[in-house]
Amino acid sequence: MMKRLRIGLIGSGYMGKAHAIAFKAANAVFPLSGELICEMLAEVTSELAEKKAQEFGFCRATGDWRELINDPDIDVVDICAPNYLHKEMALAAIAAGKHVYSEKPLALNSADALVMTEAAEQAGVKTLVGFNYSKNPTVQLAKEIIDSGEIGEVVHFRGTFNEDYLADARVPFSWRLKREFSGAGTLGDMGAHIINMANYLVAPITQVCADLQIVHQQRPMLEDANKIGTVENDDQVHMMVRFANGAIGTLESSRIAWGRKNGLWFEVTGTKGTLIYDQERLSELQLYTASDKSSRQGFRRILVGPEHPDYGHFCVSAGHGLGYNDMKAVEVRDLVEGILADRPMWPDFRAACHVNQVCDAVEQSYQEARWVTL
Ligand code: NAI
Repeated sequence: MMKRLRIGLIGSGYMGKAHAIAFKAANAVFPLSGELICEMLAEVTSELAEKKAQEFGFCRATGDWRELINDPDIDVVDICAPNYLHKEMALAAIAAGKHVYSEKPLALNSADALVMTEAAEQAGVKTLVGFNYSKNPTVQLAKEIIDSGEIGEVVHFRGTFNEDYLADARVPFSWRLKREFSGAGTLGDMGAHIINMANYLVAPITQVCADLQIVHQQRPMLEDANKIGTVENDDQVHMMVRFANGAIGTLESSRIAWGRKNGLWFEVTGTKGTLIYDQERLSELQLYTASDKSSRQGFRRILVGPEHPDYGHFCVSAGHGLGYNDMKAVEVRDLVEGILADRPMWPDFRAACHVNQVCDAVEQSYQEARWVTL
């Protein structure tokens, strides 16, 4: 009998939709070890859950996420709810013996992330966290080039993740701006992605020295623009970092950087060359190798194609490009194969917990105006 993996999705906002698209796409794009079934969707009300289940192609709906978690026909609980709910939902899912696929940041802080990680490891359930940018075939190619030694020993990582979705001071207040609901600001939101990327491509971050700032201190409330909400977490952050392998680097993130729409960007410098990646041109990699004869040296642009890992499942022609939702489809393939074929899954709760630990160290470094060792 064909194996099945039945998904219970909690939350149908921005990420809930991205996951739903990826569940449908993964079945078509990849040869999977079993059938992926969109079983149940939970939202804040049963009406919204019914509506979204119909739109996204889920079989059943509920206005109570606990019902979803305790349903015997759910194998994986997929958490796409705001950050402050991740811990409670994940711990309940783990207690019910379910595998957990959670959006990032894993938790509001590293203490909570550790509790979740240890609970999952003790229960022996599988976990995956939505750091989707590392799933891009272009980034996998960057990893392959780095690991093969083509740019020599990595000595420096320069990374940003900047967007402008809160650059306009008139954008209304939301859950993302309150510590109790979001934890850190851009640090935990987009900063977490570039921290995970640096950990993936170079080595674990071991020390940080950071600065952060709230620029727009107050914003109008969504329900009544005459009421004001006070912003409680960072609009912009930057940090110097040191890695376990001796490399150093700088990382920055901003949610108020006008003009940057998906500005996850990095430059990895090695002793024999350099790589540059720009998420706004996500199917291209720039490679400079010092071994080229001096009169021909320069960055060359590699367009990913079917020769590169995972791209060929989407398209047989090189250079036709992928998109944001495709990275989520690769992530979902990893989820299915991790569980049904018992393959290792990354980044799991343990890896995401390290990202939370770096974020906490960044805040501590800022508060105490010093380097912090993890
Ligand atoms: P959103 O606000 O668009 O959607 C959240 C959804 O959760 C809403 O539909 C809301 O009604 C639902 N929800 C809230 N409380 C609930 C409850 N008690 N039960 C059931 N549903 C509930 O937020 P968004 O942007 O989708 O963010 C969700 C998570 O995804 C966050 O942790 C965020 O950090 C992460 N995220 C990840 C991204 C990535 O690139 N991996 C990008 C954007 C967000």
